[in-house]
Amino acid sequence: MAVEIRIPPVLQIGGGSFSTVAALLLRLGCRRPFIVTDPFLMKSQLAARLATQIRDAGMNCEIFHETVADPTTTVVEAGVDAFKHGGHDSLVSLGGGSPIDTAKAIGMLSANQGKARDYRVPHSIPLPGPTHVAIPTTAGTGSEVTRFTVITDSESGEKMLLAGEHLQPSAAVVDFELTLTMPARLTADTGTDSLTHAIEAFVSRKANPFTDALALSAMRTIWRELPVSFREPGNLRAREAMMLAATQAGIAFSNASVALVHGMSRPLGAHFHVPHGLSNAMLLPAVTEFSVRSAIDRYAECARAMGVALANDSDEVAVEKLVGALHRRNKELHVPSPKEWGIPEEQYFALLGTMAKQALASGSPANNPRIATAAEIEELYRQAWQ
Ligand SMILES: [Fe+2]
Repeated sequence: MAVEIRIPPVLQIGGGSFSTVAALLLRLGCRRPFIVTDPFLMKSQLAARLATQIRDAGMNCEIFHETVADPTTTVVEAGVDAFKHGGHDSLVSLGGGSPIDTAKAIGMLSANQGKARDYRVPHSIPLPGPTHVAIPTTAGTGSEVTRFTVITDSESGEKMLLAGEHLQPSAAVVDFELTLTMPARLTADTGTDSLTHAIEAFVSRKANPFTDALALSAMRTIWRELPVSFREPGNLRAREAMMLAATQAGIAFSNASVALVHGMSRPLGAHFHVPHGLSNAMLLPAVTEFSVRSAIDRYAECARAMGVALANDSDEVAVEKLVGALHRRNKELHVPSPKEWGIPEEQYFALLGTMAKQALASGSPANNPRIATAAEIEELYRQAWQ
């Protein structure tokens, strides 16, 4: 099987790479960057430090800090207006997945007609947007290296998946020092998102030997280092390893896709505003248990790479250990069930049919080793409830 691999042409990786952003922008021919970030990073002065660095290098820039968790079409449209109005030629996104996803959509709509919903999967994006340098501050959604963005339609409430090569940033600046101040909850949730990317990319029907190597390396590291960075936020070794692994997992799933966990996770986020990594964590054990028999050798390899099974365990034993380890890990990282998180029970169960339909419509469940019916997806949501 021939595959096409896409990675941003520039990856600046390592502590201190944040200070090279202005030089990178100049090298890429940018003169009027538009910084996309969120109110928190605005308050923390990180966005101001970025703007100063850019202005000191002789460029003009403006900061757009109105991005929200679960980016909406309303915010994207405001961003497009400001981008055009300011005569900007490039984008710099700074933050977790939300600012980076917002910047991707702003870039796309500054070059293409219509609305974000016109480009949701399976529709294609015809024209490339402006140069986009992505700077993640979490480890992480991997959005800095992927060809995907997830935008919530402000009218329908649907969490839409958009995909295409033109959404991939031109460059990613991956500096683990930006993650040192992440609170424990965010560390756990974004890290579990990365772990889910690695596992789903590896078991995906679109997996290939190139993405396999990155996915295995990422899951090995994340399994070992996530609890460390959760307990010891200042542990530089763990933070550095997590940041690299999150980007590796991002490259893996951008080129091999995610599967059923992500497909089911998006509706949970859209209806109940569960943070993305947390909704993945709520679903990962049950969905893995549901799927293991359909790709037992692949899941067993995950278990061995993560060190939760022994090299000489049979595949049967290895996948059993994997499922058990995922349940225990959720306890260790204090992951609540949807019920414990405070989702109203009646609303959750009333929406099962809708959520199953939306999960299937995203296309991601079609990459899962075991193809789930709508009824099976509903049953998995039921299992995950408490
Ligand atoms: Fe994700």
